[in-house]
Order: sequence, then C-alpha cells, then structure tokens
Amino acid sequence: MKTSIAGRGVLVTGGSRGLGRALGLALARAGARVVLVARHADELTAAVTAIGAAGGEAHAIVADVADREATHAIAGQAAAAVGAIDVLVNNASTLGPVPLRLLLDTDCEDLERALAVNLVGPFRLTKAIAGPMVLRGGGTIVNVTSDAATEAYERWGAYGASKAALEQLGRIWAAELAGTGVRLFNVDPGEMDTRMHADAIPDADRAELADPARVAARIVARVAGNDTAAGARVTIRVGLSGADAVGPAGGTAAEAAR
Ligand SMILES: NC(=O)c1ccc[n+]([C@@H]2O[C@H](COP(=O)([O-])OP(=O)(O)OC[C@H]3O[C@@H](n4cnc5c(N)ncnc54)[C@H](OP(=O)(O)O)[C@@H]3O)[C@@H](O)[C@H]2O)c1
Repeated sequence: MKTSIAGRGVLVTGGSRGLGRALGLALARAGARVVLVARHADELTAAVTAIGAAGGEAHAIVADVADREATHAIAGQAAAAVGAIDVLVNNASTLGPVPLRLLLDTDCEDLERALAVNLVGPFRLTKAIAGPMVLRGGGTIVNVTSDAATEAYERWGAYGASKAALEQLGRIWAAELAGTGVRLFNVDPGEMDTRMHADAIPDADRAELADPARVAARIVARVAGNDTAAGARVTIRVGLSGADAVGPAGGTAAEAAR
C-alpha cells in the first residue's frame, strides 16, 4: 500500500543542485510542499524557480547546516512556509578539501568540518524536526550516506568517517524512535553525475554515473511507500540492477547485496 506525500511538508538539505535538487523536483511533482536548504542563494533560487515552473511548490532557506545558530531558524522558517514537516532529507554534504587527501595529510580542522556538515548538522536538524514528528505520531527522515561509509577507500577518510557515523546515528535514532510512528532510514545513492562526484573524481567517465533524477525517483518511492523499515540501509545502484538492495538495521551494503 502506498502512502501519499501529496500536500506533505518536506525539508531537503543541499537542495540547490545534484541529488537534493532532483529530490526537491520529484517530491514537488508528487504534490509535496518543498523547502530546500543550501548556502548559495543564486543556485538555490534557481532550483526553487525550476520547481515553480514545473507547477510545484518550493521555498528556499539560505543556511549552512553546520551552523548551530541556523538549526532552529531552518526548522522555524520551514514550518512557517509549509506547515508541519512530515519528511526530512539530510542530504547536504561536504567532501572536505579536494583533491582528496590521505589521512596523514588531513588537517584536524578539515575532519572537524566534515563532521560538522555531514554528522552534527544532520543530528541537530533531526533533533529539531523529529520532536514535533513524535508529537504528531508520524514522519519520515532520510539520511543520505555513501559506500565510503562501509569501504575503506584511501583518501576518503574524513568524508567516509562522517558518513559511517551518520549511518550509525541513524540506526540508533531508528531504534529509539520505534513505536512513535517516526521512521528513519539511510540511503546510499550510488555514484551520480554531480558536482560532488566531479570534484572527487574529475576524470570519471560521466556516462557511467547515474542521473540524480533517476536516483531521486527511487528515494521518493521509498518515502511515499511504507515498505522500507526504520533503520534500514537502502543501496541504490541505478543502471546496475533493477532493484534496490535493502539491508537490515545494522547491515552493510555488501550484506544487503548478497
Ligand atoms: N555524487 C555521488 O556520486 C554521491 C555518491 C554517494 C553519496 N553521495 C551523497 O549524496 C548527497 C548529495 O550529493 P551530490 O553529489 O548531489 O552533491 P552536490 O552536487 O555537491 O550538492 C551538494 C548540495 O549540498 C549543499 N551543501 C553543501 N554544504 C552545505 C552546507 N554546509 N549547508 C547547507 N547546504 C550545503 C550544496 O549547496 P551549497 O554549496 O550552496 O551549500 C548543494 O546543494 C550527499 O550526501 C553525498 O554525500 C553522493
């Protein structure tokens, strides 16, 4: 059975480009009332305008998710724009400095920044949004992770550690929210043709990378449906296989694929 997301309030961080922008558009096309967060106003405004041109509703909040002072401003402005937030997608992320570096060459401050954007920011925002969801008895939170959370890729240390922590935090959130009606799951979207990927691997063959719009459609289906368990790790590999791999709470992508 499908649950409708039409008319729902949705907050997507990192919504100005890449996967976040594609998610915003797909969710708005499904009838959601969308709020997008990013730091750079021009790109964010363009994303909101594109959704409006497609007949959807979207609002922009210019903010840095790593800024602790911004957390409640984001939550408050989002609620003022669209009402209760029924879906939160923690998608905004940083790689840290590029070219990516070995851990021996990684400054502590760069590790701290990766943790601030990819872990602590989502934690603060989840705290701000999940409480009202619990009071209303329902909601969905999606953490966007990466295979760098489970594989020891050289030079991906700061980013990989932040995503591993985000995933584990997500599993614990899911366990602690059990019985409240609020569901949180982690999604590994796979390699996509985005600026982040180009920054990380400039010589990648773009033809081999997924279109973020196709990945977004798969995520929206999981948000709209009720068949993704709280705490699950969803591995999306557009173009490689027909179906997503869904691991149990605590499972890894490799376990899910077996
Ligand atoms: N691309 C891939 O192949 C790939 C693979 C695995 C996982 N992922 C994950 O998928 C998600 C989306 O990645 P993407 O490739 O779409 O990235 P992207 O194209 O670089 O877009 C990142 C988005 O996040 C925003 N952002 C970055 N830092 C922010 C901050 N501190 N506060 C608020 N917004 C911030 C950016 O806007 P501003 O710069 O204006 O803030 C932009 O809207 C990320 O979680 C990433 O880790 C991507």
